[in-house]
Amino acid sequence: MSAKTVFPAKLSGELSVPGDKSVSQRIAMLAALAKGTTTLTGFLNGEDAMSTLHAVCSLGASCRFDGDSLKITGTAGKFKEPANPLNMGNSGTGTRLLAGLLAGRPMSVTMTGDESLSRRPMGRVANPLGEMGAQLELTGEKGTLPMTIRGTHLKGIRYELPMASAQVKSCVLLAGLFAEGKTTVIEPRPTRDHTEKLFQTLEIPIDVNGLEISVQGFGPNGPQFDAHDLTVPGDFSSAAFWIAAVAARPGAELTIRGVGLNPRRTALLDVLKRMGAQIETRLTQADGDPIGNVTVRGAQLSGTEICGDEIPNLIDELPIVAVLGALAEGKTVIRDAAELRVKESDRIAVTAEHLRAFGVEVTEQPDGMTVSGPAKLSAPVEPLESHGDHRITMSMAVLSTFADGPVRLNNVECVQTSYPDFWKHLEQLGGQAE
Ligand code: S3P
Repeated sequence: MSAKTVFPAKLSGELSVPGDKSVSQRIAMLAALAKGTTTLTGFLNGEDAMSTLHAVCSLGASCRFDGDSLKITGTAGKFKEPANPLNMGNSGTGTRLLAGLLAGRPMSVTMTGDESLSRRPMGRVANPLGEMGAQLELTGEKGTLPMTIRGTHLKGIRYELPMASAQVKSCVLLAGLFAEGKTTVIEPRPTRDHTEKLFQTLEIPIDVNGLEISVQGFGPNGPQFDAHDLTVPGDFSSAAFWIAAVAARPGAELTIRGVGLNPRRTALLDVLKRMGAQIETRLTQADGDPIGNVTVRGAQLSGTEICGDEIPNLIDELPIVAVLGALAEGKTVIRDAAELRVKESDRIAVTAEHLRAFGVEVTEQPDGMTVSGPAKLSAPVEPLESHGDHRITMSMAVLSTFADGPVRLNNVECVQTSYPDFWKHLEQLGGQAE
């Protein structure tokens, strides 16, 4: 178990964040399926991306780091049955997307995960895959990991997603590539579209018609496509911690370079503008997943309401939005976000509990919370538990920089899943953690 003490600090400066976790994992899977070698720049060196990379290597792809780039030589669609269960670590994206990719292959694969991943619902992928004809067994206690997939012939389906989830959407689309006939997914609200954009870049046919996304199945051999060299944008969800830390501090200024600016990921910027922060973005690459620079100038923020279609586009930022609520004048209301209860931890309960430990007034609802600010932030007496959740840890580290004394955070090794350089970057921006 590793712990950190975070000291009050003013953060400002300039930074590049590590590669996007969602994009890195999708590229690893698609590069493993492609014909030829993909050279990737900016692949995330965090544990989730590495778990997915190890998994695709066990399926027959060969992967080699070469200086700053990663080379993945694909299998041209001919995955081999792995000798052992795939350990997916903490990665929900890796597990759910691979379930789709493997459901139509003629082999048997078991996936396991760490304690947090082993608590997360997998019925949400087992149900649509089952409708397609997949044989998928969840041997955990409550529709949870371990998962065993015995590849079968799949048929295309028309599937209305019961929840706004890019992971489930992507799982069904990937399975659809190996099915007979057409597969259509209908989203209740727009979610991140990295899978769709990568299909387009790799010339895998896909039809995006508003909230209806379709692929034509290629049958059990799947699509044949050539490897393309690709760049992974900086992870907006990692940048979000620093953007928030500076936005809520009058006089502070920050520039983040080379960060992903896909509009399905950046709703936090719209929220911050409503709250009174000054934000400028400049695109440096518009094709595929857009990349650019973000400059933020801090201000005394005011509370706002976040709900509806905005939620999926800042789903991973909601713990840091709640932190902003504690610093803003008035009430910040988060609604329509029940999905937070099934993330790496129950992020509504854990965020509310931690904010209260700082003396913040929070009321919890089944699908969100109301945070009143600005609070006088007293450093909690007891250490805060991470619950194995990287984004809880990083959100609380940011809040700690605003407290009236040092704050102890327990079990902080989970930041490795998405942002191994987090503590180094905190210091680079003028913070202190030891
Ligand atoms: C992700 C989608 C989101 C997000 C997760 C990554 C993805 O999950 O919370 O961190 O890579 O598609 P859901 O799609 O389940 O909401």
